[in-house]
Amino acid sequence: MPERILVCVAWPYANYLLHVGQAAGAYLPSDIFARYQRLKGNDVLMVSGSDCHGTPITVAADKEGVEPQVIVDRYHAKILEVWERFGISYDLYTTTLTENHYQVTQDVFLKLKENGLLYPRTEEYLYDPQADRFLPDRYVEGTCPNCAYPEARGDQCDNCGKTLDAVELINPRSKISGATPVLKPSEHYFLRLTAMQERLKEWAGKQSHWRRNVLNFTLGMLNEGLKDRAITRDIAWGVPVPVDGYENKRIYVWFDAVIGYLSASKEWAARKGDPEAWRPYWEDPSVRSYYFIGKDNIPFHTVIWPMMLMGYEGLNVPYDVPANQYVNFSATQKQSKSKGTGNWMLDLLDSYAPDVVRFYLTTVLPETNDTEFREEDLVRANNDVLIATWGNLANRVISMIHRNFGGIVPPVGALSPESEAILNDARAAFGAVGGEFGACHFRGGLQEALRLAQSANKYLDERAPWKAVKTDTTHAAETLATALNVINALKVLLHPVLPFSTAQLHEDLGLDGDLRQHGWEYQAVPGGTTLAPARPLYAKIETELAGASA
Ligand code: MF3
Ligand code: ZN
Repeated sequence: MPERILVCVAWPYANYLLHVGQAAGAYLPSDIFARYQRLKGNDVLMVSGSDCHGTPITVAADKEGVEPQVIVDRYHAKILEVWERFGISYDLYTTTLTENHYQVTQDVFLKLKENGLLYPRTEEYLYDPQADRFLPDRYVEGTCPNCAYPEARGDQCDNCGKTLDAVELINPRSKISGATPVLKPSEHYFLRLTAMQERLKEWAGKQSHWRRNVLNFTLGMLNEGLKDRAITRDIAWGVPVPVDGYENKRIYVWFDAVIGYLSASKEWAARKGDPEAWRPYWEDPSVRSYYFIGKDNIPFHTVIWPMMLMGYEGLNVPYDVPANQYVNFSATQKQSKSKGTGNWMLDLLDSYAPDVVRFYLTTVLPETNDTEFREEDLVRANNDVLIATWGNLANRVISMIHRNFGGIVPPVGALSPESEAILNDARAAFGAVGGEFGACHFRGGLQEALRLAQSANKYLDERAPWKAVKTDTTHAAETLATALNVINALKVLLHPVLPFSTAQLHEDLGLDGDLRQHGWEYQAVPGGTTLAPARPLYAKIETELAGASA
């Protein structure tokens, strides 16, 4: 029975170029997961979009002296280019600037208000007396009250991950003028998180399948006790607040961004001409939803968004939130998107084939710990693992079938025990690799697949078909046909990580239909199939980086 699965992917702010840390944090893992589930025949809806509101965008716009829309248009286009070239297979990638998103956001706002979970309150906020304006979120920096990090932002500390109210910062300073802010009253709507505290605690306590760091962070937050949080701002850019007297205020970016998952699902349904099609993904309680994010987004996805969903009533809360740690780049710098360091995806994709980047990044996904991105490691992964273990295997076997059997897969009769054994390994790999991918252990899934490739290399070396062909063609035919069947299995097993090159291989194997329709299962290449001439799946990278490994 096919399962329905909702894959929600973090919405990148449309104010900078995507870097490798974000790709490894959320986008590549979500894509591997979605591709795997689709191969299994499951019914996947994968949505995301550009996060276009809030001070991340307006601060960038102010810096350049342009309208926020200019920033959003520029970076949204660049982000789309990354998805295309990197092969991230969204069913819909939209933005938070659509009419639909505004409507859905306001609908959630009003429903929560009706349910007593939003209420107005006047409090004192940081105000820049020189610039003569309020300083929400990223317009102010200061010392984190939780961990003493000196450059915490007004909405969240990048160091400890805690969500903050700007007034909590110690020694705050205006990002606009450098002035020390003063306090000034303003009325805003508050999300009554305190009302859901116990329900959230009970719910989170049962999520034993969550990653340990995600669960610990969440339970820590809930045990410490939640505070109601303002979800409107004194700012001109954002979703209008559907309440009289709020004409000069806007909804807080995080409130509308998480609603994006829902609004994008509705947009997807409307676009395909079936406006109700989003419902089962959100309303059928047996449907699992996965949220792929970086660890700085945890509080918004395991506490705030679930609270909003519980308060809205009738919509599924997240099933899993497999948040990743960070990928460090160079010896010391964190790939923090708010600081703007890192290796840009578009630059990497100018230099390397997308599958090479995907392959290397999969081997360093920060699933349990921070990891390190190093270009020389990428080169080594390509030359010494991807090509040596997998690319050459496929290439050698196809070449030998051309050289010795005219490019036609030789039919085989009874199989020797060694051949039976390797084919059994190939069959078993679907369970092993699938088990890992399904549990969001993408590094582990890739390792399992590579293990099969190693066994296939060993099998080939032991049976040496290049020698056997001179004395015993039947023996050589059995070996090459068997090896080709293992390669055909690896093509499917590796497809979620390496979609471009496996699609090329699928074509070269002369098989009908789209690889994506193959099914997550072992299938033999029928004897008599004509293979395309062998062509390498990957190119060796010859650069000074290749030698820089020692
Ligand atoms: N734009 C946020 C960030 O880059 C992530 C938002 S995820 C969302 O940190 F789904 F909530 F939008
Ligand atoms: Zn902190």
